[in-house]
Amino acid sequence: MREIVSPAKAIDGILTVPGDKSISHRYAMLAGIAEGSSTITNYSTGADCQSTLDAMAALGSAIERKDGRVVIHGGSLRQPRGDLDAGNSGSTIRMLSGILAAQPFTTRIGGDESLSRRPMERIILPLGQMGASIEARDGRYPPLTIHGRPLHGIDYTLPVASAQVKSCVLLAGLFAQGDTIVREPVRTRDHTEIALKEFGAEIESRQRVIRLSSGARLTARELVVPGDLSSAAFFLVAALLVGEANLVIHGVGLNPTRSALLDFLVSMGAAIQVLDLRQTGGELVGNLRIRASKISGGLIEGALTAALIDEIPALAVLGAASEGGLTVRDASELRVKETDRIASLEANFRRMSVKIETAPDGFRVAGRQKFHAAELDSAGDHRIAMAFAAAALAADGPCAIEGAEVAGVSFPEFFSTLRQITH
Ligand code: S3P
Repeated sequence: MREIVSPAKAIDGILTVPGDKSISHRYAMLAGIAEGSSTITNYSTGADCQSTLDAMAALGSAIERKDGRVVIHGGSLRQPRGDLDAGNSGSTIRMLSGILAAQPFTTRIGGDESLSRRPMERIILPLGQMGASIEARDGRYPPLTIHGRPLHGIDYTLPVASAQVKSCVLLAGLFAQGDTIVREPVRTRDHTEIALKEFGAEIESRQRVIRLSSGARLTARELVVPGDLSSAAFFLVAALLVGEANLVIHGVGLNPTRSALLDFLVSMGAAIQVLDLRQTGGELVGNLRIRASKISGGLIEGALTAALIDEIPALAVLGAASEGGLTVRDASELRVKETDRIASLEANFRRMSVKIETAPDGFRVAGRQKFHAAELDSAGDHRIAMAFAAAALAADGPCAIEGAEVAGVSFPEFFSTLRQITH
């Protein structure tokens, strides 16, 4: 689908964004293995999170979905009749594999073309150390054939900063003999730790060392998913790209392991206010107000790169329009996301005559660049589609975005919401 996005002079309104993608996956998986019926409100409307629900249903969880609410009747899982399909979702395949590795049956799980190119040895290795038996295409790519085995806890230091890998090991640890310890070199999102505690697991986290006690019985919960800050990011950036902006986004998740985006935008000069800060299910939530601001340049490297990894496509667009430009380092993980995001950014910037210098692990975009109207391409990546929709608002004429429907992976309502708030 081609979406045409015209330049905008102003952005204003009050809106909400879909339920957080990361949290939705975790609640669905934990509800599926917890005893009893869990109710999850504001579950993500994105296709990725539907892939997780479909997988849990195929594994025997009875699931009802109605009016933004999902009820999951959990308990022990059973062998699915066919292969599981994770679609485009790295979170589904990587996290669910931790659960599947401990089941008394064999499962095959794969996904779309993009997912089939994404590295899985990062989970195959620790799960193997726990006693799992997993076959993969060329030893590292989906589909994975997971032969469930009795597992034992391990003490594992993550070689990559990845919350998906951390979560995979912790979910496997739920079924293992003995405690499981995961050590993180860099802090990553801690939704799994928070959700595990909510469902009744015994887990503690201190100075990037997480210890999960074995033998916990999870019980059903009623939970509300906060809005997805990574989806809100596209509107925050859009508000900073147009001349006039006064935008309020309600009910956004502000977990400190995710909210580096706000600090970073504020450090660049963005006028952002957090209003009505509250807690739900152990997660922080608030409303955001953003107004048009003069934006300086920025540098993203080290631990900050891991904290902003999903927001870098949007921030790259902002960087090109900022006073001082944006430099991103230590970001080789961007090359193994839904697309090689450094390459996808480069291709679309070139179409808009925006200059970018790339490196194997990052890039530099100079500031004060003009965005020329162009034919853009999502390359099948939801965050690239939405980042360049924001860029198109600041272009010198209408832009076409090819493959725009992929925004539905995390945010099916993105383009209709964008039309409502732009003038
Ligand atoms: C996610 C972790 C990150 C992120 C992805 C969601 C999660 O991936 O990019 O969109 O929900 O745990 P990595 O764990 O590969 O860094």
